[in-house]
Amino acid sequence: TAILVLSGVNLGRLGKREPAVYGRTTYPELVAQVEKTAAELGVAVDCRQTDDEATMIGWLHEAADTGAAVVLNPGAWTHYSYALRDAAAALTGPLVEVHLSQVAAREAFRHVSVIGPVATGTITGLGVDGYLLAVRALAARGSEPIP
Ligand code: DQA
Repeated sequence: TAILVLSGVNLGRLGKREPAVYGRTTYPELVAQVEKTAAELGVAVDCRQTDDEATMIGWLHEAADTGAAVVLNPGAWTHYSYALRDAAAALTGPLVEVHLSQVAAREAFRHVSVIGPVATGTITGLGVDGYLLAVRALAARGSEPIP
């Protein structure tokens, strides 16, 4: 099963969107980097982005059914979507939460993640490298649980 690499709301606008915060790498460039890393590691990835919460929840249901490992950047849903958290809690494989920016250093509303407590691990503040490190961690894990 491919590692699902899921990006939520507004992340399709990377590169154009607040580049001082999120960098100049576009979403298609991010996908290309993730796919290159996966190819080097010999693992399959399936990268998807949506601004629609219901679509994202459907992808998490799919991952719960297949047992796929998930890398998830939920965007602003991170901070308030209990529906996304419940879907993430029901995953049967590992979940790595990723944020490009260092959310702890930003506005107070970004300091809370409702996803964090149900994630296996979280990578924040390292830009696109966070996605690559998450894929690396999941690829290294194989069928072993983390930690
Ligand atoms: C983000 C951080 C969130 O607070 C924000 O709403 C985003 C992107 C990040 O990758 O840094 O959309 O998840």
